[in-house]
Amino acid sequence: MSVHPEGVKKLLASDLLKMKNDGKKISMITAYSYPQGMIVDEAGIDIILVGDSLGMVELGYIDTVPVTMDEMLSHTKAVTRAVKRAHVVGDLPFMSYNISTEQAVTNAGILYQQGRSDSIKFEGGQDFAPICSAITKAGIPVFGHIGLTPQTAATMGGFKVQGKSLDAAKAVLDDALALQDAGAFAVILEAIPQQLAQIITEKLDIVTVGIGGGPHCDGQVLVFHDMLGMFKRFTPKFVKVYGQMFDTQVELVKEFISDVEGESFPGPEHSFNMKADMVGELKKALGVE
Ligand code: KIV
Repeated sequence: MSVHPEGVKKLLASDLLKMKNDGKKISMITAYSYPQGMIVDEAGIDIILVGDSLGMVELGYIDTVPVTMDEMLSHTKAVTRAVKRAHVVGDLPFMSYNISTEQAVTNAGILYQQGRSDSIKFEGGQDFAPICSAITKAGIPVFGHIGLTPQTAATMGGFKVQGKSLDAAKAVLDDALALQDAGAFAVILEAIPQQLAQIITEKLDIVTVGIGGGPHCDGQVLVFHDMLGMFKRFTPKFVKVYGQMFDTQVELVKEFISDVEGESFPGPEHSFNMKADMVGELKKALGVE
């Protein structure tokens, strides 16, 4: 563990690996802003992903493809400024690591050094093992992401469960093993059959975190807006919705509008007063008598 300036112990890759070894389940959630970072850290989450899902749930893009490094960096900085204990993962957006190893290491370095994330994540398996190895060798802990990889969903026939045939399942396992061999300390398993996720979790020494990977992964991750009912466009099958925060916030803003229109806000408790004997003088001075 490292220690935050305020004395709180920060979770490092080694602590997460120890949790796997101790059989302690790991909780992970996305966050994209300073207040969201504070909320999930205060709740005691183990890992925060500043995911490129940002593009859809915060920036209004149709998918994650348009998200840029500048956007990821800005949001990663906001979250890391808020977080004391949780391990923060910065997410490399589409085309920020796909061109060359040099490009991948440079952009991983930006999220790690300027964004102050504790590790970085990118999508892809065996084909990306050399990139994983180069980033790890540069001294940056790597979190993999295999199974359904949203940035390249168009080449997978859309957002579909992966690893369903024997060959496809073996390819997902090979992806996981390749990332482990290349130095990754953890891997997200997205939208694969739970039986396959269990085998991968048992075979790997590194941490597995599932999103649509069933209950046998070492940890579970959900998107902040999905679990809080704040993203209305669609809700994947693997999401458990814990509240309807979109509707709750609409109701609270409606209450404010009604208070303003009904003149019940602001009340005396929200207003400032001048000394009573100055009011007459003020009116005279401003010519409003
Ligand atoms: O960007 C993201 O939020 C993710 C999760 C779906 C794991 O990659």
